[in-house]
Amino acid sequence: MTGFLSVQNLSKSFGGLEVVRDLSFDVPERTATALIGPNGAGKTTVFNLISGVYQVSSGSIRFRGEDIGDVPSRHRIKRGIARSFQNIRLIPRLSVIDNLLIGQHVTLKWSLDVLQPFRLIRDHEWVRAARDELAAFGLRDYADEPVGLLPYGVRKRVDLIRATLSSPSILMLDEPAAGLNGSETRELHGHLQILKERGTTLLVIEHDMHFIRSMCDKIVVLNFGSKIAEGSFDQVRTDEQVREAYLGTEQAA
Ligand SMILES: Nc1ncnc2c1ncn2[C@@H]1O[C@H](COP(=O)(O)OP(=O)(O)OP(=O)(O)O)[C@@H](O)[C@H]1O
Ligand SMILES: [Mg+2]
Repeated sequence: MTGFLSVQNLSKSFGGLEVVRDLSFDVPERTATALIGPNGAGKTTVFNLISGVYQVSSGSIRFRGEDIGDVPSRHRIKRGIARSFQNIRLIPRLSVIDNLLIGQHVTLKWSLDVLQPFRLIRDHEWVRAARDELAAFGLRDYADEPVGLLPYGVRKRVDLIRATLSSPSILMLDEPAAGLNGSETRELHGHLQILKERGTTLLVIEHDMHFIRSMCDKIVVLNFGSKIAEGSFDQVRTDEQVREAYLGTEQAA
């Protein structure tokens, strides 16, 4: 199905500078779409517009056919639009399970001080759901470890579980493989493959082309805020404008 998430003629300016220009693309349901482009192309800004961190300057964002441009950020989360951030937003001194429970509270817009009673009720449904999800992704043994002591790849995946505990219908990931080594990247890939099989729609910003090739059904390429190409990996890889945009950048390799 096309038009599940649909961005139409989207523009965003900061002061006088237009960083997203007349951008249109669709994210079909139950697929993985990649948003790529050189540093500063406007990728994270697009995520911030879709998640409601920023207001659009012009254009529209439609989700399941409805314009969500004026819907507050927290309501977009409730409608099933989830994201992870370029930097992990977990609290290092708290355990994995507590970080996951805080994620649930934030979704429900409750304050952090209600965490304590829920943690004490060990079989509360949220605690069980969080533990089940850790187990489903092979991370059960980390449940009670402080996040700050975990390897980076595990932290990344805990952050991913935090974003998916509310069963979002679309998940936006900003450079999920950044900073991961080869085996951590493969684990992350397996994790996302499971989410995809569960029916979660993915929109992924990523510089790792192997990752994109094996994961994504469709690629949208941005340069200076504008879309310069769209299509399958092989279609965009051979595109002249894409080659030029990446020439001389770190990603050219
Ligand atoms: N809040 C803001 N205020 C002013 N300028 C901003 C703001 N957010 C982003 N920009 C500018 O918008 C442009 C696009 O930034 P953005 O972070 O979206 O790029 P990106 O494609 O995610 O880059 P990277 O690959 O480095 O993460 C940059 O020039 C950036 O400086
Ligand atoms: Mg970015």
